[in-house]
Amino acid sequence: MMDSLRGQNLLDLGELSRSALIEVLDTAESFVEVNRRVVKKVPALKGRVVASLFFEESTRTRLSFETAAKRLSADVLSLAVASSSVKKGESLKDTIATIEALGIDAVVMRHRSSGAAVQVARFVPHVRVINAGDGLHQHPTQGLLDAFTLRSVLAERRGERGRDTGAELFAGLRVLIVGDIRHSRVARSDVDAYVGLGATVSLAAPGTLLPEGVEEWPVDVVDDFDESLARADVIGVLRLQHERGTGAFVPSLSEFTATHGLTAARVARLSPETIIMHPGPMNRGVEIDASVADSPASVITRQVANGVPVRMAVLYLSVAGGEGAW
Ligand code: CP
Repeated sequence: MMDSLRGQNLLDLGELSRSALIEVLDTAESFVEVNRRVVKKVPALKGRVVASLFFEESTRTRLSFETAAKRLSADVLSLAVASSSVKKGESLKDTIATIEALGIDAVVMRHRSSGAAVQVARFVPHVRVINAGDGLHQHPTQGLLDAFTLRSVLAERRGERGRDTGAELFAGLRVLIVGDIRHSRVARSDVDAYVGLGATVSLAAPGTLLPEGVEEWPVDVVDDFDESLARADVIGVLRLQHERGTGAFVPSLSEFTATHGLTAARVARLSPETIIMHPGPMNRGVEIDASVADSPASVITRQVANGVPVRMAVLYLSVAGGEGAW
């Protein structure tokens, strides 16, 4: 367990202690102010080089990591995988060795293989490695930005700032995560973040979309999604991952929506205080109704916006060791 991310790789959110999680959230809160300035730039990573390697598709994570690195004044090397020598069959090890030879301080990497970021951290021990999503394993910065978003929303309701509350707002908070848990690295990182900060987490999914070994996760698995909705303070909806063959795990999309979709009819029965989240990208009309995604209860756009200050905090702590002017 790490008590601080300073100078460390971020590979698996389960490795961060509660105080390390709070350190990231508090640091991110400082960077929110930078992102409100006319000139959204600080010199914290001036002279450092961050390589952005996305071997799997991304919109939010890649753009917000690259924006975060640039706002910290780092130089960003962005590998266009589709037109790189990866397409000629170059191995991950050789690709990383090539990029390291160019002189880099950090790698932000997404890969379809679970464990790829851990492997790269072994290849380049002197370079900081940030996992931007590896297969079904982890998406640590999504877990951090989801926790940051929740803490901000709850603190605002009390007229406070999140950083003044530490993890207090998570105590007794009931989070229900619904959808394709089996194929979701976000589910794993969200559970690590929420439970690590003191919340209670329940999972709802058709049996075929629950992961093997879920009984060992620090969560409850609910049998009746409709019945569990009324007890949730927060509902985190997850995408059906067509690219990972989810279609083979449900009889039809419409049956999934009927049993586990966050429809307008279901939301109409909830308290107006219930917070609705989705990491994106969404399948509107499948796991979440379009009107629900766009409703006042939804914080989905805030989740995206918070990706920048949270990723600035991760880069600042991991790559600069939390040192340096800004
Ligand atoms: N939430 C998320 O990881 O989105 P992207 O795949 O667009 O990065």
